[in-house]
Amino acid sequence: MSRRRFLKNLGLASAGVTLTPFNTIAENISSSALGGKFPLVLSTWNHGMEANAGAWSILSTGGSALDAVQKGVAVTESDLTNRSVGLGGRPDRDGHVTLDACIMDHDSKCGAVAFLEDFEHPIDIARAVMDRTPHVMLVGRGAAQWALQQGFDKVNFQVPLREVQQDYEEWLKKSEYKSGVNVENHDTIGMLAMDANGKIAGACTTSGMAYKVHGRVGDSPIIGSGLFIDGDVGGATATGVGEAVIRVSGASAVVEAMRRGAAPEEACYEVTHRILKKHPEVNGLQVGFLALNTKGEYGGYSVYDGFNFAVRHEGQNGMVDAKHFRTWK
Ligand code: GLY
Repeated sequence: MSRRRFLKNLGLASAGVTLTPFNTIAENISSSALGGKFPLVLSTWNHGMEANAGAWSILSTGGSALDAVQKGVAVTESDLTNRSVGLGGRPDRDGHVTLDACIMDHDSKCGAVAFLEDFEHPIDIARAVMDRTPHVMLVGRGAAQWALQQGFDKVNFQVPLREVQQDYEEWLKKSEYKSGVNVENHDTIGMLAMDANGKIAGACTTSGMAYKVHGRVGDSPIIGSGLFIDGDVGGATATGVGEAVIRVSGASAVVEAMRRGAAPEEACYEVTHRILKKHPEVNGLQVGFLALNTKGEYGGYSVYDGFNFAVRHEGQNGMVDAKHFRTWK
């Protein structure tokens, strides 16, 4: 079915919706990644370039995909200019910056934290939940208490930051929450990596929707929604409006599509459309997925233009560091 007809059937063409397949690089790494000889990392959005460099410092020295994704997304968590990841993120409607994160490896080991305040690296605490407890997810006050017991320190600077506070005070004058296409700089980082041994891992971290209801948790810390890895198939991660992703168990659905034989981009396309069918009010609903299979093939898909991802991998002529962005022709 042509894209135009597909959109028409969904009633989306007239709504001005633009579906965006991510570019996949000409220098396809699929054959070289077979056998796990070459590491690779991909992550959502522009800031994925810096995050990928962080992950690469582990991958390029023979480290594991799991350590790489933890280190990679921590780079973005430390970036206080980022308004939707880490402590530089926008607060909820009560003025609290609350953080969600999760991590998962090829062996289905995983950890997550949600509704966490005042820690710089929720991803490190998610990893500790995975490594040091029999549980998968800790939330809120209990998560903070446990993190302190485990030796994680709270931040010693003022959160929210002054600029974020000013924006929040401006927002309070109307106190309207409407999700929109990146109007909140809503750009969770999701990262997937394959190490030199061919093992896949993923991580996802966010401060969630700006001005959300206090206590709201999105898709990012939920294994199967914001992130899912199956060592036999591949991995997927999501970004965008978390509620829409949770409703279809997004990342898990992408991995299941790949299990049935879909290429990564096709799998992301399939689940994006599943979301669109469930959201006739699609205007303003930005969702995107990235996926990586065990052959080292990758791809992505999103509802709207303006969404991109970054990739770093070994190529025939050395390391390739690229940003992928393409609109429908
Ligand atoms: N995707 C992040 C969130 O909705 O919180």
